[in-house]
Amino acid sequence: MNVLMKENEKWVDEVFDKIHKKLRKTAESSYDKIPYTTVNGVHDNKAETDISWWTNGFWPGLMWLMYIHTKDEQYKKTAEHAEELLDKALADYDSLHHDVGFMWNMSSGVNYRLFGGKASKNRFMFAANVLAGRFNPKGGFIRAWNGNTDGWTIIDSMMNIPLLYRASKECGDTRFENVARIHADTLMRTHMREDGSCNHIVKIDTETGEVLENFGGQGYEEGSSWSRGQSWALYGYILSYIHTGDEKYLNTAKRAANYFIANVALTDYLPLTDFRAPREPYVIDTTAGACAACGLIEISRAVPENEGRMYLDAAFRMLHALEKHCDFTDDTESLLQDGMEKYHDSSEMPIIYGDYFFVEALYKLKGHELLSW
Ligand code: GLY
Repeated sequence: MNVLMKENEKWVDEVFDKIHKKLRKTAESSYDKIPYTTVNGVHDNKAETDISWWTNGFWPGLMWLMYIHTKDEQYKKTAEHAEELLDKALADYDSLHHDVGFMWNMSSGVNYRLFGGKASKNRFMFAANVLAGRFNPKGGFIRAWNGNTDGWTIIDSMMNIPLLYRASKECGDTRFENVARIHADTLMRTHMREDGSCNHIVKIDTETGEVLENFGGQGYEEGSSWSRGQSWALYGYILSYIHTGDEKYLNTAKRAANYFIANVALTDYLPLTDFRAPREPYVIDTTAGACAACGLIEISRAVPENEGRMYLDAAFRMLHALEKHCDFTDDTESLLQDGMEKYHDSSEMPIIYGDYFFVEALYKLKGHELLSW
């Protein structure tokens, strides 16, 4: 076993046990909900307030990770129930956009990969068709949102396109993968910068594929470096490499990772919400660290062990730092605290994808297969 894995084996086991103890209870108490955050320690419920919200796949996704690791039926029941609640969103065409990947790959996609049910297959293949249908062949990109945003693409979409790779594998038709690869290639040109940092939102010419405009998006300002966007790039490109074997995606992921590691090393392995924001106010985003740790673990597996050590070591440093921001008690139903939705007009809060990625990182370290993406 890898030395770093050996050194951390006991720690991973202990943290996972604490998580199971906590989440086993919330899997039951939040059975009828799709949580986004907590209010006074209690999960809110997007199934009631906004069933089409982009994060609604993370709760069933989290439940599946816990089920696979523990085989506790409560997690399975809660994941399946959330998947059914999401049918209301799938039936509302106008509310569907590029985040169908986040919503149905981790929910129906995982269910189908585990159990092969027809209803789950229908859901994730329908979602894949919606995502592929957003492709603009002349511009060479998948459009992000609806309304007056034609040409808008965001780096977050790199986490949505694994749905397309999975769909191609499922039906043996390369068109889904080809759409994903063209989109990934475009974003390497339009969003990724030479130093490994990236733009969040870019408006692309729908006829020529040229960049028309950059937006700061959820970061500090145009040209800055929103850390969750950096983690979407890091993890997203290594996922494209895993699904295609194309080395240019591995190299892009490594560039994003090297940049991320250099930045978090300056702040005790807790990412600032934007790496290029002023140091005051000092605002971290734990969710960016959790997502990046998942990508770093995958990079460490994709390269020779001597090279992978740096990525794995950085992942462990971040996870140890994040553990201090976890609440393992029953005082609150959320696990990872101090996430940030965006740099401006936002405050520190637990967010479901923070919980999800922290658990996914540990799930990977326990040696489980990549199933959610
Ligand atoms: N995909 C939007 C976000 O990361 O907040």
